[in-house]
Amino acid sequence: MEEKKKKLKRKDLLGIKELEKWEIELILETAKGFKTILERPLKKLPTLRGKTILNLFFEPSTRTQASFDLAAKRLSADIINISKDKSSVRKGETLLDTLKNIEAMKIDAVIIRHWGSGTPHFLARHTKACVINAGDGIHEHPTQALLDIFTLQEKFGKIEGLKVLILGDILHSRVARSNIFALNKMGAEVFLSGPPTLLPPQFSLLGAKIEYNVDKILPEVDVVMCLRLQRERMKGCYIPSLREYRKFWGLTKERAKKLKKSIVVMHPGPVNWGVEIDYEVLDILPNIILEQVTNGVAIRMAVLYLLLVGEHAEET
Ligand code: CP
Repeated sequence: MEEKKKKLKRKDLLGIKELEKWEIELILETAKGFKTILERPLKKLPTLRGKTILNLFFEPSTRTQASFDLAAKRLSADIINISKDKSSVRKGETLLDTLKNIEAMKIDAVIIRHWGSGTPHFLARHTKACVINAGDGIHEHPTQALLDIFTLQEKFGKIEGLKVLILGDILHSRVARSNIFALNKMGAEVFLSGPPTLLPPQFSLLGAKIEYNVDKILPEVDVVMCLRLQRERMKGCYIPSLREYRKFWGLTKERAKKLKKSIVVMHPGPVNWGVEIDYEVLDILPNIILEQVTNGVAIRMAVLYLLLVGEHAEET
């Protein structure tokens, strides 16, 4: 990393696609420092004292909302949590009005999860506050990809040269899109597999190799990233049944036995156990699903710090 590049060159974190490699490396390096703080008995820093952050979640979340909340508190920021069901959006207020009203109370950052792809980009054009995408529709989930890359870097030392298989419902997955961009930028080889109904061939245009025969590709890869079947986004019949999905695409104990000894199994959560992964697989394979969650706090501290303290050198 060049010495002068110590700040992100943007006001917002909207996606991985537009990030430069050195920006990803800067976030990972900053998160490494924050992770050591999280391992201390006293886990709090005064870094963001006086800053105010809005956590605006219009879709359910356990990991992302809690870890942004915790990341802000670990850095001594004030954070307000608003969900769709508890906001005046239920009374007909628009999302933009919600933002403008909260902005009038002087906030510095908005973290937004929304079912509409592109919603964070829309908000970013209408506020001086930093906007962070916490998952927009089927588009991107940048902090998930950053925490995944961080976790892989901890495991393997470097991402370059790794063969990573993303398996499952690629069509509806913002995690898949952000990870394809991030892994490619960091020099990994990305493979995709899943039912053809949930993996259109156009995904190869993003820089990934498609292999519909999961049993052929599994023994070759260093990492398997299983994805959740997003049934809430499915408007038609994409798979005959969950049983059939498990039989043809699930990480069963039989499939797990054919994997490399050094394999790393990941999942962004929430997991449908017995569908995407059999619980018994954890008896024979190292899995790092909860380490991903732990690293999510450090990554989100790094993102908040770099956007709110490290002034962006040059806006995009
Ligand atoms: N990985 C992830 O985004 O999980 P949540 O939906 O629980 O935030």
